[in-house]
Amino acid sequence: MRVLVTGAGGQLGRDLDAAFAEHAVTGLPRDELDISSEAAVAAAVAELDPAVVVNAAAWTDVDGCEADPDRAHAVNALGPWWLARACARTGATLVHVSTDYVFGGPPGPSAPLDATGARRPWTEFDLLAPVNAYGRSKAAGEELVRGTLSTHHIVRTAWLYGAAGHNFVRTMLRLGHAGRPVRVVDDQVGSPTATPDLAAAIREVAVSGRFGTWHRTNRGSCSWFALAQAVFALADLDVDLAPQPSTALDRPAPRPSWSVLDDRHATLAGLGPLPPWRDALARVLDELGELRRPDAAPGGVPP
Ligand SMILES: NC(=O)c1ccc[n+]([C@@H]2O[C@H](COP(=O)([O-])OP(=O)(O)OC[C@H]3O[C@@H](n4cnc5c(N)ncnc54)[C@H](OP(=O)(O)O)[C@@H]3O)[C@@H](O)[C@H]2O)c1
Repeated sequence: MRVLVTGAGGQLGRDLDAAFAEHAVTGLPRDELDISSEAAVAAAVAELDPAVVVNAAAWTDVDGCEADPDRAHAVNALGPWWLARACARTGATLVHVSTDYVFGGPPGPSAPLDATGARRPWTEFDLLAPVNAYGRSKAAGEELVRGTLSTHHIVRTAWLYGAAGHNFVRTMLRLGHAGRPVRVVDDQVGSPTATPDLAAAIREVAVSGRFGTWHRTNRGSCSWFALAQAVFALADLDVDLAPQPSTALDRPAPRPSWSVLDDRHATLAGLGPLPPWRDALARVLDELGELRRPDAAPGGVPP
């Protein structure tokens, strides 16, 4: 099966190459395919004629998107639309990667509640309510894909990190080794997800024939603060770590406080659950040569 991966230079894009190793994969980084160009997308899909296109390209700079929402729309909304249109012409299927940031803001509630009044994870069928320009551009991308190509898989994920690229885990390791105090927000909760696990889940979805929208994150949830605790515990780094509220950061783009995605629709439909987030974190730290206390996280970190 021929597979085209866009955004192949990103942290997820790099791991998709390995996940689709038994297929003929062509990974195109941004300088080889700019998905915001309809002509470039049409030409690449027509020339390569893949059976599956995986769109891992996105403008993921959340504060940058807030300052330049037109660029965010061009990449995160029009880009997937051009891909969906090209796939419709050639008969390819499209896996489009989306985000927990399509939820969490006005006009909807900041978190959905269950019958007891407790927060419950967002399902694939909750109404989208993005809190910032990045989330709005990704929500628009989803809608444009849905309306254009029936043979689509929209895979929503959250809090990505891997052994390469810019991500929270690698930032924590850098700060931890630098020996300076670290302050991390504890009022945003989500499901940290390792890119190798997501890449494997995307491959599973891509060959499943099950079209539609799917939530795919590592199991369990925590705050960014608890994730930092787990990184430092597993890497055996003695760090002056303390929690802080999101308001202390004064960032241009607001972030959702509750980003936990429900994967029951996916698992009931036969897609395998992803591993727990702590196990995934330990594996990525091991890949980075940073796993010194593999026994440290269980029990030591709030869920
Ligand atoms: N990171 C997260 O925490 C997170 C959470 C939920 C969902 N997601 C979604 O997961 C997917 C993968 O994210 P990631 O973490 O792997 O992001 P990433 O590391 O920033 O990778 C995105 C890649 O897309 C490329 N790109 C940007 N604009 C492009 C364009 N116009 N045409 C083609 N490529 C372009 C980037 O290239 P340059 O670096 O050269 O700009 C980068 O290599 C995205 O759809 C993202 O929205 C991410």
